Amino acid sequence: MAFDIEMIKGVYEGIAERVDKAREVVGRPLTLSEKILYAHLWDGNPENAFVRGKDYVDFAPDRIACQDATAQMALLQFMQAGKAKVAVPTTVHCDHLIQAKMGAAIDLKTANATSSEVFDFLASVSNKYGIGFWKPGAGIIHQVVLENYAFPGGMMIGTDSHTVNAGGLGMLAIGVGGADAVDVMAGMPWELKFPKLIGVKLTGKLSGWTAPKDVILKVAGILTVKGGTGAIIEYFGEGAKAMSCTGKGTICNMGAEVGATTSTFGYDDSMERYLRATGRADVADAANEVKEYLTADEEVYADPEQYFDELIEINLSELRPHLNGPFTPDLATPVGELGDKARENDWPIKVDWGLIGSCTNSSYEDLTRAASIAKQAVDKNIKAKSDFGINPGSEQIRYTAERDGLLKIFEDLDATIFTNACGPCIGQWDRSDLKGEEKNTIVHSFNRNFSKRADGNPNTHAFVGSPEMVAAIAISGRLDFDPVNDSLINENGEEVKLDEPQGIELPPRGFDVEDAGYVEPVADGSGVEVSVSPTSERLEILTPFAPWDGQNITGAKLLIKAFGKCTTDHISMAGPWLRFRGHLDNISNNCLIGAVNAYNKKTNFVKNQLTGEYGGVPDTQREYKAQGIPTVVVGDHNYGEGSSREHAAMEPRHLGVKVVLVKSFARIHETNLKKQGMLGITFANESDYDKIQEDDTFNFIDLTDFAPGKQLTIEVVHADGTKDVIKANHSYNDSQIEWFKEGSALNLIKKQNA
Ligand code: F3S
Repeated sequence: MAFDIEMIKGVYEGIAERVDKAREVVGRPLTLSEKILYAHLWDGNPENAFVRGKDYVDFAPDRIACQDATAQMALLQFMQAGKAKVAVPTTVHCDHLIQAKMGAAIDLKTANATSSEVFDFLASVSNKYGIGFWKPGAGIIHQVVLENYAFPGGMMIGTDSHTVNAGGLGMLAIGVGGADAVDVMAGMPWELKFPKLIGVKLTGKLSGWTAPKDVILKVAGILTVKGGTGAIIEYFGEGAKAMSCTGKGTICNMGAEVGATTSTFGYDDSMERYLRATGRADVADAANEVKEYLTADEEVYADPEQYFDELIEINLSELRPHLNGPFTPDLATPVGELGDKARENDWPIKVDWGLIGSCTNSSYEDLTRAASIAKQAVDKNIKAKSDFGINPGSEQIRYTAERDGLLKIFEDLDATIFTNACGPCIGQWDRSDLKGEEKNTIVHSFNRNFSKRADGNPNTHAFVGSPEMVAAIAISGRLDFDPVNDSLINENGEEVKLDEPQGIELPPRGFDVEDAGYVEPVADGSGVEVSVSPTSERLEILTPFAPWDGQNITGAKLLIKAFGKCTTDHISMAGPWLRFRGHLDNISNNCLIGAVNAYNKKTNFVKNQLTGEYGGVPDTQREYKAQGIPTVVVGDHNYGEGSSREHAAMEPRHLGVKVVLVKSFARIHETNLKKQGMLGITFANESDYDKIQEDDTFNFIDLTDFAPGKQLTIEVVHADGTKDVIKANHSYNDSQIEWFKEGSALNLIKKQNA
């Protein structure tokens, strides 16, 4: 089952009626995002209009995709829901647990040996519950989904924040926590606050060195990492139509970096071409029949200001190539201006590595454009000054690129071809060129560049660019190189310039692959055994969280007041910890170890109020738990930005943290906290963050009256006996309050299934 054409036809059969009805109840023309949302209401035909940014709405997604790191916990949870099969087509992709070191052949063998327990668990649980399984080496989830499953007008959820990549094929694809995926697998609706809409009008046309990646790098600079929170970004205009489908995928992929719920484009010729090239002519034919429902109503794009909450306009003809970073993907700098900025900020100019690929940028077009630059280095006798690494997005793209001689071009530059997997993009990179934590610079075509993201080294300055720009910068070995204006000196001592990149949208001889790496589940999985060893270090059957005792939380100690950016990477670090994703107690030893303590600006160094001594966050929290003392985590703005990993919510919950009190939350993390039965609340008055002191104790006054829209009152008792009474806001609705009361959403599902 590469894709389910009957399911897609079913969606298209209902779309006209639902969208026409939605237009009627909303009383105006509809954007594409609204059409897809209203066509996927859990209750069927729309009866009333929803308020953007306010109403919680139940949806019925068409598909679910899970990657190996997040699938473990999601499937361990699903196993407890008491169902025979998943209710919605679901796939599992083994891509995060493969380390990049020596190159694909050796690295894949090593991963299969070291993670066999997890891969075997995922394969057997997939087989049992009717889930499509993509083996290690088959590719990166989002590239595989784009090639096989994404379809215009569809709605998908995925347990990875870059699920949004499928917007390139006109879907609404949204990254969720494993707990949300479990709900949908179990046949329950998926709840989302009806998003706001940001329109991005693309005029002009890309040319020369400017690539689709530069569109999103520019948008990230405009919106910043939180500017898209709670919103869908809908791209349109002539510039959008002129772009390839995979280029659109890149733009949607990095919508996660501005915090957007998702991003999408209307169905057009580029999508039809891509569907046909990837063996889905029947999907293209079906989509063509309902074309007008797979893009916005004409009036919307003619007068966008009326229909979007925010509008951005970018003229692609004037857009310059960018490199964003270091340490945050919204620090956007046009190439050519980066040298001065780097010198001002003392960022290393010398570039050690250029990395191309990942789920963001490994399309055929990307590889041909980057290869056209790499080839010039060989042809013009320029020695590449940086090391090259390539991680292709799928076996299909790797096989095709090898067949067409693209990989050979990189190999001629001594590039290492890593496994078709995440590798350096998720900290799964064993870099042999660094001895310790040396300050250094790398450039990559990935999406995320938070501290330690690629190689675990806090002093690696990572810059994000298009694959062709990464190739050019890596060849020059300098961050201040501008291929548009600068030249290089080749091995003969001659001055040479790199010509503009040339790309091919789709392989002229078609895609090809010998073994794509897909395993179809058996029709009846009732006899399939799923085994988890009780002594396993990596997998652990879950114990349900305890329900709320119905009392106010009192005597709670401050565990940590996190300072500044606190992403899910800071709360539950990736890299070597990924191996414990299926073992809650073991992975909890990384809980908040990357968060900066506001009182001493150190990581993993907090005061234990019981002893007065300082220690690591997990150890300190385990001591509070052993004494039965509740704790509170305090945080800054956009707490939990980054990924969908529910471990960032489960770990503190498992260790006994009762409350996360912050200035604001990133959407997915806030929902994850709720799902796990945690109290996730925000300061009603942001400046109250400053009132929180290191030795504080928290007493809730009115949690017993917990109700939607009702503020909570907290008495904060300081070490000298003085008190501040502060107010906190929350966004829990009635059913989310039930999760809190039952101890978790899963506890509630189990109760309802009983
Ligand atoms: Fe993997 Fe990086 Fe994409 S971790 S899923 S390649 S964002």
